[in-house]
Amino acid sequence: MNFSDKYQDVIKEARSLVQPALDLSATMMREVAEKSPSGLRERITQTVERPGKRLRSILLFLLAKSNGEKEADLKRMARAASSVEMLHLASLVHDDVIDSSELRRGLSSMNSAFGNKIAVLAGDYMLAQSLVFVLEEDDRRVPQYLANAASSLVAGEISEIDQTGNINISFEEYIRVIEGKTASLLVACAKCGAICAGYNDDIVEDCGKLGLHFGIAFQIIDDILDYGIGAESLGKKKFEDLQNDLITLPMLLYFQKNPKDEMEMLMKNASEPDTANLIVEKLKNANCFEEAKNIASSHLQKATDVLEKLPPSHVNTLLKDFFEAMAERRN
Ligand code: FPP
Ligand code: MG
Repeated sequence: MNFSDKYQDVIKEARSLVQPALDLSATMMREVAEKSPSGLRERITQTVERPGKRLRSILLFLLAKSNGEKEADLKRMARAASSVEMLHLASLVHDDVIDSSELRRGLSSMNSAFGNKIAVLAGDYMLAQSLVFVLEEDDRRVPQYLANAASSLVAGEISEIDQTGNINISFEEYIRVIEGKTASLLVACAKCGAICAGYNDDIVEDCGKLGLHFGIAFQIIDDILDYGIGAESLGKKKFEDLQNDLITLPMLLYFQKNPKDEMEMLMKNASEPDTANLIVEKLKNANCFEEAKNIASSHLQKATDVLEKLPPSHVNTLLKDFFEAMAERRN
């Protein structure tokens, strides 16, 4: 069995274990979309109905189910996950405006279908609705974690914009960007899952670290996939980071150990497919994708280490496999 098959198998098993919660959350999100004011209703429904990977929900549900001593409440988990997914979707709708992306999940992005003005407003509406899902949650840390994540997403996206075109971006600055724009939401997912599982405060914080490392790894892999490396059915265009002048980890590693001038020249013409392919060849030859993947794997290992603190169970083993397989995801 190759690694990609292993990824598919692990995701399938994880998904089937949490299917009722995924279904309930899908219903909750559809209801919110259908209750949107006219002008937004159809547009938001289309966005919500597109099948994403739902990895954030799956992580939340698996952690919620990882405490053998306590059965997590289905509605509670589904509300938290709906909030996370709606916030994630809102951020993607805004991100596509910022990146001028035409494709999302294999279909026209909201901005390309309806224009930037509608996309900004639809994203705002979805952001507001994401917090409504957790209004009735008894544990006030849940809405707080989600509000923190929303704020960090914005801060992360702003630092990414500030770092655009900076070929001297440091490794620490890159990590700070991806912690903000991606890992912060996975921290919220993991902590909400831990709260649904009934874990004590220390374990909730440990799960936050698990979410942080998982999120960092997830974005590094996303950044490698943007170069088309290992990508399959991506549902979005490749080379967008390159064409938007974003220095992500593979390029950062290249600049750390190679002369900058030639690559800088190539990057200026990255919208030409031949030039983009030449850049990929150069990064490949300099082992930058492999090194970036190793860094992602080291973060996945750190996420796995946290599992030692949770009770041993089938779900715990599945989470370990889930992290291990994540390095091999192709979309
Ligand atoms: C995708 O990154 C974008 C994000 C993970 C976060 C975007 C956040 C914002 C736009 C801030 C606004 C937030 C709220 C709360 C509405 P990417 O461009 O690297 O990934 P992609 O290739 O999937 O587009
Ligand atoms: Mg983008």
